[in-house]
Amino acid sequence: MKIGLLGTGQIGKKNARTLAAAGHDVKVANSRGPDTIPADVLETGARAVTQSEALTDIGVAILSVPPTAFEALRELVSTLPEYGVLIDTSNYYPGRDGAIAAIEAGQIEAEWVREQLGRPMVKAWNAIGSDSFSRKGRKAGEPGRIAIPVAGERQRDREIAIKLVDDSGFDGFDAGTLETAWRQQPGAPAYCTDLTLEEMGP
Ligand SMILES: NC(=O)c1ccc[n+]([C@@H]2O[C@H](COP(=O)([O-])OP(=O)(O)OC[C@H]3O[C@@H](n4cnc5c(N)ncnc54)[C@H](OP(=O)(O)O)[C@@H]3O)[C@@H](O)[C@H]2O)c1
Repeated sequence: MKIGLLGTGQIGKKNARTLAAAGHDVKVANSRGPDTIPADVLETGARAVTQSEALTDIGVAILSVPPTAFEALRELVSTLPEYGVLIDTSNYYPGRDGAIAAIEAGQIEAEWVREQLGRPMVKAWNAIGSDSFSRKGRKAGEPGRIAIPVAGERQRDREIAIKLVDDSGFDGFDAGTLETAWRQQPGAPAYCTDLTLEEMGP
């Protein structure tokens, strides 16, 4: 697939490397420009580009940025085609991001992100810690493979995200719509606890 990835930190870097190695056409951008993207992010074939190039002529966009970046990215995200898949990996940490009143008042984090981005989206890769993500990926079918929940309003988007999670070394668990995505946000039993598909479901 043609993938545009924004954010090349701990989560974005691993996805850039693994998804390119799996044969996907991956473009990556950070907030500072292509020249600042470390060489190891690109080692398996991902290409460093600008933010707007990253989201042009792609089928899937993956945002691996802090929630504070969404306001600045909304206009760019609005250029994605209606049928394009948008995946967000973010989590809300008030100590890092500052307090977000709606979430503090009980809004599900994924629904808040969806409002910020103004279009259908999928929440994936948020409920795996960076250490497990970088070290514990396995081939499909290997015993003990960790599962990652995938929530989103459109079933086709979830199916594509689950395939990409699989390509990244983890089982994708279909967690349903964003209304129930509280089950994969910080503090929930499935958040960063390295459960298998069997342990996570049904
Ligand atoms: N770390 C974890 O264990 C973990 C696990 C699951 C999910 N997450 C979530 O996933 C997201 C990314 O986490 P991370 O740990 O990978 O973060 P990180 O290491 O701090 O990296 C953040 C990345 O976002 C980029 N960025 C920030 N604003 C941007 C913008 N406006 N446009 C494009 N790129 C922008 C940064 O680029 P510059 O360096 O150029 O500013 C950097 O590459 C966060 O929301 C985090 O909560 C983290």
